[in-house]
Amino acid sequence: MPVYADDLVTVGYAQVGHESDWRTANTQNYQDVFSEDAGYSLDLVDCDNDNAAQLEAVRTFISKDMDYIVIAPIQSAGWDTVLQEAQDAGIPVIIADREIEASDDLYDAWVGTNTTNEGITAGNWLAEYLGDADANILVIEGSVGASATLGRTDGFNQVAGEHDNWKILDSQSGDFTQAGGQEVMESFLKSYDDIDVVVAENDNMAFGAIDAIKAAGKTCGPDGDIIIFSFDAVKAAFDAMIAGDLNAALECNPLHGPRVDEIIKK
Ligand code: AHR
Repeated sequence: MPVYADDLVTVGYAQVGHESDWRTANTQNYQDVFSEDAGYSLDLVDCDNDNAAQLEAVRTFISKDMDYIVIAPIQSAGWDTVLQEAQDAGIPVIIADREIEASDDLYDAWVGTNTTNEGITAGNWLAEYLGDADANILVIEGSVGASATLGRTDGFNQVAGEHDNWKILDSQSGDFTQAGGQEVMESFLKSYDDIDVVVAENDNMAFGAIDAIKAAGKTCGPDGDIIIFSFDAVKAAFDAMIAGDLNAALECNPLHGPRVDEIIKK
């Protein structure tokens, strides 16, 4: 591992975008940890949820001969070629936050979240909350092809499959954004009369869904018509729970910066 007495260690971070409060906290955390005072020069590229832009950002890091490349992958598929290019250039790659479908020979480390486990935890929470009650369930999924979406969906479906009286009526992508969650919920409310539970695969989509539910003259939360829960547990989710609009939020920690720093130092 290079140790630089005089120079800063250059790190290129291909960030997903700015789609959620979780993402904002993640970006801030990298900026705090990878500071010049800490010996780093951080080149953080916000890829605006655009897969092609993210591949281009990584190729730019390779052409700049960065010391390390960190990728929070928008999509889980399609990484082999660019990872091979980084390896050929001798640049270590750390995958962070989401996972990828590629041989682990092509990157040096992964640090992130077990989202399947989050989905199972969410399902188990719902099972305990509902007891024996029947439930018509709608799912607002995250971005299509993102491991956070695939894992949460898979984990929740595993638990749902154990409950014959749970019916998943529909699931649509809200792209992990508040506007996306609102739009999907508006369409669900037009299509389904009898909604018991809404699963939002992140907090921001839940905030949008809550706005749509209220605008339709319905209520949600512990004393409302509809049970709604989400993933991340950002500060605004606690505010929504305190306000009685959100039943639960499953923690997903965005503070990966110190872990990536530790991997680089090792
Ligand atoms: O990959 C982590 C997920 O990405 C967060 O749950 C979501 O809010 C973000 O967009």
